[in-house]
Amino acid sequence: MPQEIIAIYGPKGGVGKSSISANLSIAFAQLKKRVIAVDLDLGGANLHVLLGIKDYKYSLDDFILKKITDLSEALIPTQISNLKVICGGSQLPDIANLQYAQKVKIINHIIKLQSDIIILDLAAGSSFNVVDFLFIANKGFIITTPEITSLINVYSVIKTSVFRWLELFFRTKKNQELINLLQEAKDVKKNPHLATMDGFFKEASIIDIKIAEVAKNRVLKLKPLIIINRVQTKNDIAVGDVLHTLTAQYLGIGTDVIITIPEDDAVRNSIKIMIPTLIKYPISPFSLSIKQLALKVLNQLNTEGKVL
Ligand SMILES: Nc1ncnc2c1ncn2[C@@H]1O[C@H](COP(=O)(O)OP(=O)(O)OP(=O)(O)O)[C@@H](O)[C@H]1O
Ligand SMILES: [Mg+2]
Repeated sequence: MPQEIIAIYGPKGGVGKSSISANLSIAFAQLKKRVIAVDLDLGGANLHVLLGIKDYKYSLDDFILKKITDLSEALIPTQISNLKVICGGSQLPDIANLQYAQKVKIINHIIKLQSDIIILDLAAGSSFNVVDFLFIANKGFIITTPEITSLINVYSVIKTSVFRWLELFFRTKKNQELINLLQEAKDVKKNPHLATMDGFFKEASIIDIKIAEVAKNRVLKLKPLIIINRVQTKNDIAVGDVLHTLTAQYLGIGTDVIITIPEDDAVRNSIKIMIPTLIKYPISPFSLSIKQLALKVLNQLNTEGKVL
């Protein structure tokens, strides 16, 4: 099986990114896959806690601070066989200023890690520290809760990711005019004709039809996968349709809800005692959803292309 990198991200703090990262990692490991969970929430690392780890020798910080030269030195075994974790740290003063070159270095080392599945637990929001890591993933799950405010934030995250991807792509093509057009498109009020992706690519084609076509085809292929967490009612499940309509209309890309996960006290209760939910409450509604997700992902592997 080729190595699969799955990014877990989302617009807001506290929506369950780390809980899902930790337990999905366990679910894959229980299905006999070699898994590495990487805590890339550089400012608020806590993935190791959710995996029941109290101490660790090295973390990602040590790699960034050059105390270790190879990221694999920061691999920490867990109590679950097949599952290792790279802990985040809290030694870095202002992680928001991580240089692009540093990110590229981290990315290059992550790609080299020996594993079947690598799960990236990303920070909340859509800063470049988040979306730049996103692009190494073969698959990305956007975690949201059902509130309408969260959904609007999801839309912004998708839009920012698409724009950042386009910016990096245009940069590699050294086309400053297209980069400038992207900047203009960010100001929707001033440039309403660039508000939709369709409008944007029309203008982009006038600048460089070849580059615009390649970029458009790539963007249209994106299909962000959504996980709606903490669902309580049937209406909560339906919010996925709202999101799909929004992204399809303005970005020209559809979203798919891959799974909904119910609100479940087992999550909080297990965190309190520092035992992963999947281990402490293996048949709780949360754990069953996570196991179902793991099976779904394994079934889908190798049958689809790269998604956001
Ligand atoms: N399905 C659920 N049912 C009940 N509680 C949940 C569920 N999912 C997450 N929680 C609770 O939400 C809180 C936040 O979860 P978590 O730390 O996983 O979120 P996060 O998105 O990683 O947050 P941050 O952005 O701060 O890193 C936790 O206390 C957890 O108990
Ligand atoms: Mg988190």
